[in-house]
Formats: sequence, structure tokens, C-alpha cells
Amino acid sequence: MDFRFLLLIPLLISSTVVYVVELARHGLRTPTQFMPWDEGIWSVGPGQLTPEGMRQHFLIGTELRNRYINNTKLLSSSYYKPEVSFYSTDYDRTLMSAMSQLSGLYPPETGPSLKNSSLNQLAKPPIYIENFNETIEELGDAALPNNIQVVPVFTGLNQDDIILLPSFSCPKYQYISNFNSNSSAVQSLIKKNANLFETISNVMDISIEEAINISPQLLDSLIINNAYGNTRNIPAPFNEQFLQQAVALSNQITQIIYYTPEVMSQLSGSQFLRQLSTLLNESQSNPNSTLKFSLFLAHDSSLLNVLSALKLPNLENPTFASTILFELISDENKNFYVQVYYNDILQTIPTCGSTLCPFYNFMRFIELRSFPNITNACIFNSAEENWGDLAEAENEEFPVAGKGDDWNLRWYGWLAIAFCSAVIMALGIAVTVLIRDFKAKRGKKKYVEMWER
Ligand SMILES: *[C@@H]1O[C@H](CO)[C@@H](O)[C@H](O)[C@H]1NC(C)=O
Ligand SMILES: *[C@@H]1O[C@H](CO)[C@@H](O)[C@H](O)[C@H]1NC(C)=O
Ligand SMILES: *[C@@H]1O[C@H](CO)[C@@H](O)[C@H](O)[C@H]1NC(C)=O
Ligand SMILES: *[C@@H]1O[C@H](CO)[C@@H](O)[C@H](O)[C@H]1NC(C)=O
Ligand SMILES: *[C@@H]1O[C@H](CO)[C@@H](O)[C@H](O)[C@H]1NC(C)=O
Ligand SMILES: *[C@@H]1O[C@H](CO)[C@@H](O)[C@H](O)[C@H]1NC(C)=O
Ligand SMILES: *[C@@H]1O[C@H](CO)[C@@H](O)[C@H](O)[C@H]1NC(C)=O
Repeated sequence: MDFRFLLLIPLLISSTVVYVVELARHGLRTPTQFMPWDEGIWSVGPGQLTPEGMRQHFLIGTELRNRYINNTKLLSSSYYKPEVSFYSTDYDRTLMSAMSQLSGLYPPETGPSLKNSSLNQLAKPPIYIENFNETIEELGDAALPNNIQVVPVFTGLNQDDIILLPSFSCPKYQYISNFNSNSSAVQSLIKKNANLFETISNVMDISIEEAINISPQLLDSLIINNAYGNTRNIPAPFNEQFLQQAVALSNQITQIIYYTPEVMSQLSGSQFLRQLSTLLNESQSNPNSTLKFSLFLAHDSSLLNVLSALKLPNLENPTFASTILFELISDENKNFYVQVYYNDILQTIPTCGSTLCPFYNFMRFIELRSFPNITNACIFNSAEENWGDLAEAENEEFPVAGKGDDWNLRWYGWLAIAFCSAVIMALGIAVTVLIRDFKAKRGKKKYVEMWER
């Protein structure tokens, strides 16, 4: 029996976290498109972070402070720029979620103070300030009230964000997802759930076709209103049963449109995985590296893309404030491992065969599951690709760089073979010994007894 797997257990205890990458969905938001019953309910307008969403991310921040400042001492107890980087997509709700989370990671009283109270005059701006004396009296030495910490969160243009919003800038992805939305698989699901669209059509007084088009936004609004208990204005046919069926259908359709064939998972997850690989590699191999924590604040699709590219379960939409943590871990012998938590549940990376993934296996897996040049991979040229017969293409595999099923990687496969060989050899020896024994003693009884033990 190979007991090597037992070695992994004590290793977890004596190991330290050296770097963390977080990928999170924004917190609870208002519906992205208001339905008639949404009017007058959400003062902040459509698609905005709600107070409950802010609280969700603030609490994540306090827990990360607990884990990575109080318990593991990975980060300094106050903001120290060389250790951290924060990135968000260019949406109000993601930027505000990032800021909410950081106000939990760096709570009031951890922010900076003037070096010296007599620097009050230096800290006076070159414009007239009403109540200057009273204000600085209240501040004391604190740079900002209650020593809060402000933290920069970086963002970029959404249409160029190939890491977190790959669908905006990948023509091949757009082509295939458009194609998939009109595929026979989707059509038959719609047909199977025709009752949903008939209900929408009746209640909203629109055509079936309009009902199909509006259904994603309508479902989004129903889910959020349901979560908030805003049932007052919701038409009765949109009941719990309707909601359950619609959510299940939506999850199924998402899989078909965005994650089939396999290349779609790779196109959509590729650039985040590449970025992750660069960051992990830098932390692992560059002794000068100071970065300890990187935050990416994004969307449900961003999380699904990454889960899907890593071949992890992704059949349900990530709830608001869902969080993936990638931890780079070092044991006392400087062996590195990667652990992936999705909403605190440790994930098993397929080629690693365990939740503790040896660093180089993880890196190799990412390499196989992503594209070295995403611009190239995203080029869609219908003539060149010869996808004339789209009906055929529907069930075909699209060209893929690597499927991530590298046999060399699957060390546990070799372990299994070694184990089986050992068992077969042991059995062989046992049988030989038994036969010898049997022949020697010429007594059938003992032979039977031994087998029955
Ligand atoms: C971290 O530890 C300090 C003191 O050890 C404690 O006051 C604080 O509540 C802890 N923070 C969290 C988030 O547990
Ligand atoms: C505060 O700064 C002033 C001016 O630079 C200096 O004279 C004074 O000694 C400083 N006080 C303390 C306590 O460092
Ligand atoms: C503010 O404080 C300064 C120094 O203590 C003093 O000279 C000035 O008169 C005060 N200004 C007001 C408006 O009270
Ligand atoms: C969807 O497919 C049908 C027939 O299969 C076709 O007539 C229609 O034009 C397609 N629509 C789109 C948007 O591709
Ligand atoms: C990892 O970093 C090392 C040195 O910093 C570099 O030589 C190597 O190419 C990097 N590997 C990857 C996959 O980025
Ligand atoms: C680390 O820093 C030292 C001193 O600044 C420099 O000489 C060396 O090249 C750096 N190493 C890497 C891998 O960047
Ligand atoms: C990626 O591919 C594009 C298009 O083929 C090319 O223009 C670009 O130079 C390539 N980038 C890299 C880094 O090789």
C-alpha cells in the first residue's frame, strides 16, 4: 500500500500561505433592468450595489483580515502598497464592492496620522476652509476622520478587459455564443419549458418571442425581489415554482451558450488563468517579489469562466459576493502548492487528484487550459475556419490548443498503476506461496482457511 498521501496531511499544518489571489463577484445589487414592479423600490437605480451588498463585501474584508492579518500574518496590519493590488471592472457595483471589502480589510483606526501635530499648517490646502480650526481640532492627528484608510482600486475599459470580461473583446467567443443561442439544444429547452414563456407572455402582455428575449432580465428582477421579500407587487403567476423552474432552465442554457464546446471554457477563462499564472510564478520564483495579495472584483460570468476553464463544477450561477481564493502555500522545505477555495470549499483541481496541488502541476494545467496568444485565439474568420455548415459545427469540437488532459500530469494515475502492480505482484507471491504450502502440506483444508480470512 502506498501511504504517501498521508504525508500531505501534516504538510498542511506546517505550511504557510505566501500569496493569495481573490476573484469575487460584486455584492447584492438592484435588478439590472427594472420591471414594472421595480419602479419606486430601488432608490439607487438599476444595477447598483445595495447596502446589503456593501455589507457582504465589508464582512468578507473583515474575515480576510482575520485570516491573512490576524492568523497568518501574511499582510501588514495597515495598508502597505507593495504588498497588495486591487483591480475591479469598470462598473459602479464592482468598484463599490471592492471599496467596501477594503474598508473591512483595513478598518477605521488603521489609517495614517500626521507625523506630528505641528504639521497642521502643512496639511492646510491653498484654498479658504470654513471652520478650519474646529475641523482640525476634531481630526486630532488623524489624516482622515477616525483614521480611516483610503485605498486605490484600479480599473480599465470594460471593452478591453480580456481578463474579467473576455466576452466583450473576443470575436470567436461572440460568434460561437451567438451561434449557440440559436442552436437546436437551446430551442428544445425552450420548447420543453414553453409554460414559462407563456406565463411571461400572458402576465406582461407581450409576444412569446418578446417573452423569450426579456426573460433573463425578468428572472434577475424576480430573484432579487424574492431575496428581499418584496412580494407585494409581483404578479402571482411568478411564484416560487415558476422561479425554480426558470433558474434551472437559465443554468442549463448558460452552459450551452457560453461553455460549449470545450473551447468556449478555455477562451473565456484563458486570460485570467494566464494572469494568475504570472502572479503565482512571480511570487514563487522572484525573491524580490513583495506582492502578497491581489484582488479582482468582477461578475458572476467572470467566476463561471474561471471555474469552467479549471474544469471545476460550474453548473450553478455564483451567488452575489461569491469568492474564489487561490492560495500559494509553501511548506518548510520550500515546496510550493496551490489551494483553491470556492466560497470556502476546497476544490480538487482535476490533474492534481487532491485539494493540495503541487505548484508545477497547477502551472502546467493552466498552461494547457489557456492560450499563449489570446488575440490569435479569438480571431474569427469564417472562411478560414470553414464553418460553412453551421448545423454540423453545432456538435463538433472546435479547434483546441490543449485539453488539459496531460497524462504526464496525472501522477495519481501512475500511483494507481504502481499500486495495482504492487497488488498484482503481492497476489502472485501469495498464490505462489499458497500453492507451495498446499503442495507441501497436501491438505486442502488449510488452503481454504487462508482464503477465508
Ligand atoms: C484581530 O486580533 C485583534 C487583537 O489580537 C482583535 O482585536 C481583532 O478583533 C481581531 N480581528 C478579527 C477580524 O478577528
Ligand atoms: C514636530 O515638528 C516640529 C517642526 O518640524 C519640530 O520642531 C518638533 O520638534 C516636532 N515635534 C515632535 C514631538 O516630534
Ligand atoms: C485659528 O487658530 C489660529 C492658531 O491657533 C488662530 O491664530 C486663529 O485666530 C484661529 N482662527 C479662528 C477663525 O478662530
Ligand atoms: C436561428 O435559426 C433559424 C433556423 O434554424 C434561422 O431561420 C434564424 O435565422 C436563426 N436566427 C439567428 C439569429 O441566427
Ligand atoms: C516564471 O518566472 C521565472 C523567473 O522569474 C521565469 O524564468 C519563467 O519563465 C516564468 N514562468 C512562467 C510560466 O511565467
Ligand atoms: C533582486 O534585487 C537585486 C537587488 O536589487 C537585483 O540585483 C536582482 O537582479 C533582483 N532579482 C530579480 C530576480 O529580479
Ligand atoms: C498575438 O497575435 C496577434 C495576431 O496574430 C499578433 O498581432 C500579436 O503580435 C501576437 N502577440 C504576441 C505577444 O505574440
